[in-house]
Amino acid sequence: MAALEVRDLEVRFAGLGQPALAIPELELEAGARVAVTGPSGCGKTTLLNMLTGLECVRHGHVAWAGTDLASLGEGPRDRWRAAHVGLVMQDFHLFPGLSALDNVLLPQRLSRWRLPAGLADEARRLLDRVGLPDPRQKAETLSRGQMQRVAVARALLARPDILVADEPTASLDAEAGAAVADLLLALADETGATLIVATHDPRLAGRLTRTLRLDAGRLI
Ligand SMILES: Nc1ncnc2c1ncn2[C@@H]1O[C@H](COP(=O)(O)OP(=O)(O)O)[C@@H](O)[C@H]1O
Ligand SMILES: [Mg+2]
Repeated sequence: MAALEVRDLEVRFAGLGQPALAIPELELEAGARVAVTGPSGCGKTTLLNMLTGLECVRHGHVAWAGTDLASLGEGPRDRWRAAHVGLVMQDFHLFPGLSALDNVLLPQRLSRWRLPAGLADEARRLLDRVGLPDPRQKAETLSRGQMQRVAVARALLARPDILVADEPTASLDAEAGAAVADLLLALADETGATLIVATHDPRLAGRLTRTLRLDAGRLI
C-alpha cells in the first residue's frame, strides 16, 4: 500500500476563480524523498497544508497509510498530526525569550501533561546532532541558519514518520542552506521518514528522488 494516496483533491479560496489546487491523483511510497517545486503562488504551501492536515480537506481525499484526513474532525486531525508529522516552516516560528532547548520542547510541553522521562535529553541530543553548540542560547540571538537547525530539531523530536519542510533554505545563504539540506536528508535517512520539501532551490530538489512540479495548482 502506498504511504500517501491523494484522490480528487481540490482547494478553492474565496475570490479566486480557479481552484488554488487541483490534484486528481497522487501516490507516494513510504520513505519517499520528494521535492515540490514551481513558481511563487503555484500552490506549494497549500499542498503541504492539505497533506499535513493543517487545513481541512473539504473536497477529495488525502489518506496516509489508510487514514483519510478528510474523515477526521479538527481535534482528531490535530492529534494525528502531532503523532505523525514533523513540520519545518520557512520562517522558523521560534519563540523569542526561550532557549533553543525550550523551543524544541515547547510543542511537547503544550500537548502533554508532563514531559516523558528522557525527552529533554533526546532534545539535547538532537540539538547536538544539528550542530547547535549551546542548547541554552536564546532563540533571538541565533543566526538564521542556527534558527532553521533548531526548527529541524523541533520537527524531529516526536520521531515523525512524515517530515515536511516549506522552503527550508529560502531565507538562508548558500552555505547555511546546504547545511540544512544535508541535515534534513541525513535525519530522514536515519529515521526512514517520508520527506516532502517545497523548494525553489534546484540544488536541494536535485538531492531528492522525486520532483512534483506545480503550475497554477496542477501537477505537470
Ligand atoms: N488563505 C488564502 N486565502 C486566499 N487565497 C490564498 C490563501 N492561501 C493561498 N492563497 C492563494 O492560493 C495560491 C497558492 O498559494 P500558495 O500555496 O501559498 O503558493 P506557494 O506556496 O507555491 O507560493 C495563490 O494564488 C495564493 O494567493
Ligand atoms: Mg509557499
